Amino acid sequence: MEERKIKERDFHNKIRVVTDDSGVAETRWSEELESTIKNNPLWVNMKYYSIERESRDFVLDFFRKHTKDKVVLDYCAGNGEDGVLIASGYALKVYGIDISDVSISNCRILAEKKGVSAKTEYKVGDAENTGYDNDTFDVITEYGALHHLDQDSAFRELARILKKDGKVICNEALAHNLLIHAYRKLTPHLRTEWEVEHIMKKKDILKALNYFNDVEIHLFHLSTLLSVPFRNTFIFRPMLSMLEKLDKLLLKIPVLKWQAWQAVFILSNPKKETSV
Ligand SMILES: C[S@@+](CC[C@H](N)C(=O)[O-])C[C@H]1O[C@@H](n2cnc3c(N)ncnc32)[C@H](O)[C@@H]1O
Repeated sequence: MEERKIKERDFHNKIRVVTDDSGVAETRWSEELESTIKNNPLWVNMKYYSIERESRDFVLDFFRKHTKDKVVLDYCAGNGEDGVLIASGYALKVYGIDISDVSISNCRILAEKKGVSAKTEYKVGDAENTGYDNDTFDVITEYGALHHLDQDSAFRELARILKKDGKVICNEALAHNLLIHAYRKLTPHLRTEWEVEHIMKKKDILKALNYFNDVEIHLFHLSTLLSVPFRNTFIFRPMLSMLEKLDKLLLKIPVLKWQAWQAVFILSNPKKETSV
């Protein structure tokens, strides 16, 4: 295995959080999780995820609309929250792949706990060379993983294993905002070197057009980041709601919109001839 992939595997094996007595791991932000892991220096950045509501609602709405009776892949599954959530809905079957064996073990434990083991199938593997057959998946979900990969190899592989009428939904942090990016550079222990150098820019997302005919991009979270320090106080929810409205305006302005923290993009109509 390449050196960078060994580093990814070892880093993620180290940071996976186990939060309850049955060994179930969760990594989506909640007040309870934040207080559980507050002394773990590898998770100090989790607080920022408290303001993800808008992008999360968008993704959850996509899952509701597009995964019924479908074969789904949780690509770089992490602890498996999204795949297990989809399997708990109306999907036919959910597969998951991750290079970290600790993650895959956590996925299986979570699936068992939520009663969806029979509908899920996880494997340890490399997302750039998954071993799945061509045209296998109706939907592929990816959250925060493309910047851990060689993005051309990942897009090529996604286009190969996606069915011709399938869709990939990606949720990625962006590298354009200098303040946010400076924070990443100042906290190198929270991520691998490869990761920080490959956080996506507009041009990286647009590379997907070499492998998919359609790329639909939505940008989220700018002024809402100001509410992070208030997340455990009574003003958080009203403040977040107000700033979400402001973001809707700000993120329409061409010179500002790529300053957003996150992008959700949907890839469809794969170019099969360039993916083999
Ligand atoms: C930031 S985490 C995101 C995990 C998950 N998608 C989530 O929503 O929490 C990135 C994941 O990518 C996985 N990863 C990194 N490189 C990989 C590779 N080459 N193949 C498969 N998984 C990889 C890591 O082990 C980690 O679980």
